[in-house]
Amino acid sequence: MRPERLDKVLAGQSTWSRREVRDWIKGGLVTVNGAPVRDPGQKIIQETDRVAVKGREITLRRNLYLMMDKPAGVVSASRDDGCPTVVDLVPPELKRPGLFPAGRLDKDTTGMVIITDDGALAHRILSPKSHVPKVYLAHIDSFITNAMIQGFAQGIPVGEEGVTLPAELVALDLDLARVTLREGMYHQIKRMFASYGAKVLELRRVSMGGLVLDGTLGPGGCRELTPRELILLQQTDPA
Ligand code: URA
Repeated sequence: MRPERLDKVLAGQSTWSRREVRDWIKGGLVTVNGAPVRDPGQKIIQETDRVAVKGREITLRRNLYLMMDKPAGVVSASRDDGCPTVVDLVPPELKRPGLFPAGRLDKDTTGMVIITDDGALAHRILSPKSHVPKVYLAHIDSFITNAMIQGFAQGIPVGEEGVTLPAELVALDLDLARVTLREGMYHQIKRMFASYGAKVLELRRVSMGGLVLDGTLGPGGCRELTPRELILLQQTDPA
């Protein structure tokens, strides 16, 4: 818990500009622990001080962690010249500077994306050494075979990147599989099925580490992780 400038903390909580925040503070519209503070440089402790803006208490968070159900046609990035991004879909009340998706899904893949401004956590999840399990539902254009199940379990050569780590493939229906990966190569599942001549028609990520996609979100829906979900995400084993 370290003391930080009031204007900096407030500007980091939303899309408010530092100038806007300073004007509010100087105008007496910001209180700390119930008392108006007119110095933007006043030091506060995010974890313990209670801050209100225009009479409304703000829940101060050092970092934000969101779960989104990414729709098809949206890019897993913070910015893109031609396409909407997952960060564009974050509703205004949850927007703040520095948000980015922790990991990538293809533009046509749907499902769970974690969006955060916590670079250290994202690095931990995304590091090649991190074998956080990611579970997908894959609908393919042919029948799932025993050869596929065995091949996924052994690892499949996918060109220059070498051989994939063992992955679990469970047939849920003739052409529907649950695939669990412990790494994240470009187009990995599509390339693994392609090595058997199969095309992935639909791909959806339904879980990551201990987190399960909230089925009530709907396409593009987004919410903060619960404290329990955040602990599950932080506990993902990077070894
Ligand atoms: N594998 C793919 O082929 N695409 C994704 O988006 C994720 C995993």
